[in-house]
Amino acid sequence: MSQDSPMIERHHHITLCTGGAQEDYDFHTKVLALKSVKKTALYDGVAPIYHLYYGNDIGQESTLVTTFPMRQTGRKGRRGNGQITVLTLSVPVSALGFWKKRLTGFGFAVREAERFGEKTLQFQHPCGIDYELAGISDDSRQPYSKGQVSPELAIRGTHGITVSVRDLEASEEFMNGAWSGRRLASDGKLVRYVVGDGGTGKIVDFALEPGLPPATWTFGEGIVHHCAFQVASFDVQDAVKAQLEGLGFTDTSERKDRGYFDSMYVRTPAGAMFEATVSKPQGFLIDEKFEDLGTKFQVPPVFQSRAKEIIEFLEPLQY
Ligand SMILES: [Fe+2]
Repeated sequence: MSQDSPMIERHHHITLCTGGAQEDYDFHTKVLALKSVKKTALYDGVAPIYHLYYGNDIGQESTLVTTFPMRQTGRKGRRGNGQITVLTLSVPVSALGFWKKRLTGFGFAVREAERFGEKTLQFQHPCGIDYELAGISDDSRQPYSKGQVSPELAIRGTHGITVSVRDLEASEEFMNGAWSGRRLASDGKLVRYVVGDGGTGKIVDFALEPGLPPATWTFGEGIVHHCAFQVASFDVQDAVKAQLEGLGFTDTSERKDRGYFDSMYVRTPAGAMFEATVSKPQGFLIDEKFEDLGTKFQVPPVFQSRAKEIIEFLEPLQY
């Protein structure tokens, strides 16, 4: 076997279990001014759940935040240790003042902070999940060009995730051995890893918080569900899975067709779920034209025969 070592390139998407669908939609499209790239549903075998995708004009990898609004199910999640606890998004450093004013104007409590020398604004999704905007001066990703915030000030995409851990050693073994990670620095209780060629959209911070109670793993309101990372091809995805299993990280999934990309999941030793993801060549254009992206609810092809039932079941969403 003479393949290149499996390479995790950057974030692909981060997926959250949020509260009400309307609240989530308004937060991401009106407050954060992201584009609604796709509106579809997950069907977990019992009942359908919205799956909403937000990002830039085409839903490029590492600009994507996706959500399962859970309120309709009544299931609550518990945030805590063994899970991703903070989603940090990238904005131009010159836009931090604008964003502080904007978020405050929408009624959010905003705290100025700093991590690894980067200035951040901390606030919370209406369902309680911790968000941050980090001021980044050299992010070349294209933001949503027609959002409610002008492109010079708009969110560029993900910057980093924070994983709350009981101990660092197991997560460092995972990042070094299986997730092509490089340790960059530490800052108080935080250790920063980067994947790919490093930089924004490629960061995983581990927060040593042994005192926090363990988080839930089920779909439940108020938690981050997983973070997906882009890999180049099925060959790389297979190699990542083989590398994981060879090291003893056997809690991996088969490749799953998610309509717009193909996913392989792994439960990391900290407990947080990561995903290695291969984008389909057509991406989000597979079922909608560019001009129509995100404008209509898309019933996943396997559930076409139950489309009416699914649409009637889901809570109404104004957009
Ligand atoms: Fe995912």
